[in-house]
Amino acid sequence: MSIPKSLLLTLAALRGVHGWGVLGHATVAYVAQHYLDADVASWAQGVLGDTSTSYFANIASWADDYRSTTAGKWSAPMHFIDAEDNPPTTCDVNYSRDCGSTGCSVSAIANYTQRVSDARLSAANTAEALKFLVHFLGDITQPLHDEAYEVGGNDIKVTFDGYSGDNLHADWDTYMPEKLIGGSTLSDAQTWANTLISDITSGSYKSQAASWIAGDNINDAVTTATRWASDANVFVCSVVMPNGAAALQTGDLYPTYYNSVIGTIELQIAKGGYRLANWLNMVYSANIAKKAKRDGRDMQAREAEPDLMGEDFLPAPRPLSKAQLARAAMDGSCCGLGREHKH
Ligand SMILES: *[C@@H]1O[C@H](CO)[C@@H](O)[C@H](O)[C@H]1NC(C)=O
Ligand SMILES: *[C@@H]1O[C@H](CO)[C@@H](O)[C@H](O)[C@H]1NC(C)=O
Ligand SMILES: [Zn+2]
Repeated sequence: MSIPKSLLLTLAALRGVHGWGVLGHATVAYVAQHYLDADVASWAQGVLGDTSTSYFANIASWADDYRSTTAGKWSAPMHFIDAEDNPPTTCDVNYSRDCGSTGCSVSAIANYTQRVSDARLSAANTAEALKFLVHFLGDITQPLHDEAYEVGGNDIKVTFDGYSGDNLHADWDTYMPEKLIGGSTLSDAQTWANTLISDITSGSYKSQAASWIAGDNINDAVTTATRWASDANVFVCSVVMPNGAAALQTGDLYPTYYNSVIGTIELQIAKGGYRLANWLNMVYSANIAKKAKRDGRDMQAREAEPDLMGEDFLPAPRPLSKAQLARAAMDGSCCGLGREHKH
């Protein structure tokens, strides 16, 4: 029996290819808000037109909503980098091998880092750049957003906490974080963020937080973001599927598997928020505060400014790999969550 292609596409549309879910992204946002310098926070509130205490959390999942619209389909590849490594034996990210000629999370972070501080952009485009950065610096810490295997785990069917129709990617994005926190509202995210902030400021993350941002360089965003992707990708081999994917399909992932990975999920959310704040603090002090001062002058220097489309950040075009073809079949068919029925 053959299944019509249109039906296969519809089925693909039901599977999630989100970043962290709403809870994870909002938590990254609240952590970042805590560590933003005061002048950067005022600038960000101005750019977003939101002076509330949730100015980042309110827009943290905008990029996921946007990619699921017709107008925003083009941005789907920017939510991940498909590392074509070989988990659990070898894990590694290679920018020129893995980014793809239409771009990935790494080139997008470089592009929007450049755009967010470019005075030539309209207010709307500056806001777009900031919203993308808030989102992508979260996505890149989710290990399965840095992995091509089985479309980042979207094609690994698993059972979690009694839900037999789950896939591994959606469990990492959404269902395991929600199991931990017990909800997905902004208030849940704020609560989780407060715990992570105290872990960073005076708890178990205190001694390592400096290493999360060590070497981060806004003038070499491709290298920096590739390092962030590699840092998360390592967990695919060591934590996400240390015994391969088949070992995850033999029973309910709750509680044993969940207990073995939830600490990594918390770590990666904390890291994403801490890095995002540090990144924007650096971009602001190096490029935005300074530029505001010389506003309206220096036309010649402006002409020498870079291409706003970020073409320079893309790797050299290469023929599509098998993993890229598999991914292409999913693009634009996002962002249904993994679960259609409660049971
Ligand atoms: C990265 O991938 C490119 C393209 O496949 C290859 O030429 C290069 O040797 C790889 N680099 C490393 C360090 O493996
Ligand atoms: C840079 O951003 C612009 C505006 O969103 C987009 O059109 C362009 O494709 C982006 N380039 C890259 C390399 O991501
Ligand atoms: Zn995303």
